[in-house]
Amino acid sequence: MSKKVLILPGDGIGPEIVTEAENVLVAVNAKFNLGLEFDHGLVGGAGYDANGHPLPAETMEKARTADAILLGAVGGPKWDALEDREMRPEKGLLGLRSGLELFGNLRPAILYPQLADASSLKPEVVSGLDILIVRELTGGIYFGQPRGIRTLENGEREGYNTYVYRESEIRRIGKVAFEAAKKRGGKLCSVDKANVLEVTVLWREIMTEMAKDYPEVELSHMYVDNAAMQLVRAPKQFDVIVTGNMFGDILSDAAAMLTGSIGMLPSASLDKDNKGMYEPCHGSAPDIAGQGIANPLATILSAAMMLRYSLGENAAADAIEKAVSDVLDQNLRTPDIYSEGMTKVSTSEMGAAVVKAL
Ligand code: NAD
Ligand code: IPM
Ligand code: MN
Repeated sequence: MSKKVLILPGDGIGPEIVTEAENVLVAVNAKFNLGLEFDHGLVGGAGYDANGHPLPAETMEKARTADAILLGAVGGPKWDALEDREMRPEKGLLGLRSGLELFGNLRPAILYPQLADASSLKPEVVSGLDILIVRELTGGIYFGQPRGIRTLENGEREGYNTYVYRESEIRRIGKVAFEAAKKRGGKLCSVDKANVLEVTVLWREIMTEMAKDYPEVELSHMYVDNAAMQLVRAPKQFDVIVTGNMFGDILSDAAAMLTGSIGMLPSASLDKDNKGMYEPCHGSAPDIAGQGIANPLATILSAAMMLRYSLGENAAADAIEKAVSDVLDQNLRTPDIYSEGMTKVSTSEMGAAVVKAL
């Protein structure tokens, strides 16, 4: 039976990195006889420019019927000045996440041993690093109502957002995190700001209650400011981290640097049935777009996550991850992970090397 993979390149470096990941998927499709069928769509600024909307109806329709989605990145200075905030490229991405109920965002930060020197931290601090950030993706302050910018009686303007989580939303992301911790190292750290914010008082209460159903998982709690510090001080103390939408966004960029580069961090965004969208954690990198120097590995590793989580093709996923490790063994490095003595390669050379290693 064939499986439909929808490819959404997006903006900036999005098309450059997605091309390489698609080439890798095409190669494993042939090698493992996976029966994947590829379709393409527009999202973000590309969607706005062509169809007047960052999430064109046609793209949403394709996304609903696809078995899995691979996305590059959206956004860029070209669209930052748009008067109507609903037309911003980022709204296209957020619309996909909420429209498809992709609440479970998995962001694994794994240090390939070959990149111990590429990290800005000392090798002994990061060597062997393998942590998983479970980020709630369709709620919290990103989606809470009311929100906006209003004018007060004295004529001054005020911006406001609402940080809200329902019990059911906390429970369903908690389940993803506890299940993941159970299969991994058995440690779960829930990150909140329960010393200040009521919404996370509830978050902490629910996580504590859920821990009773997971005796094999050791639950701890940490305030988000401390968690940011601990991630840089001693990241290997963590196994699985579970947190809300905004804290997870920030902590995952920090965790990315532990792996050498934001260009190494893949992600999966899953609904309750493990249907998912897969994308690198980084953005459209306007500062390097069009130069052919972006690291495609986060996107290629996201394709591997797609095969594992949504398509049930573990052997093909393993093969991609092994191929990535092989090209690092060959000392090939895009500029973001370059260190002395290595061979500097372009985006397409890196992608081609992964295909060859397969
Ligand atoms: P960014 O992640 O795009 O870039 C931050 C820095 O990391 C830049 O210096 C960039 O060159 C570098 N970088 C990112 N990916 C890289 C890669 N694969 N290889 C090498 N270097 C890489 O973050 P930003 O600059 O804050 O945001 C730029 C735009 O991207 C904004 O419009 C933002 O909204 C958007 N964005 C989109 C996503 C997404 O689509 N998932 C995620 C984050 C940011
Ligand atoms: C990410 C990005 C997005 C987020 C933006 C582009 C909406 O930063 O995927 O990490 O904040 O979730
Ligand atoms: Mn982010």
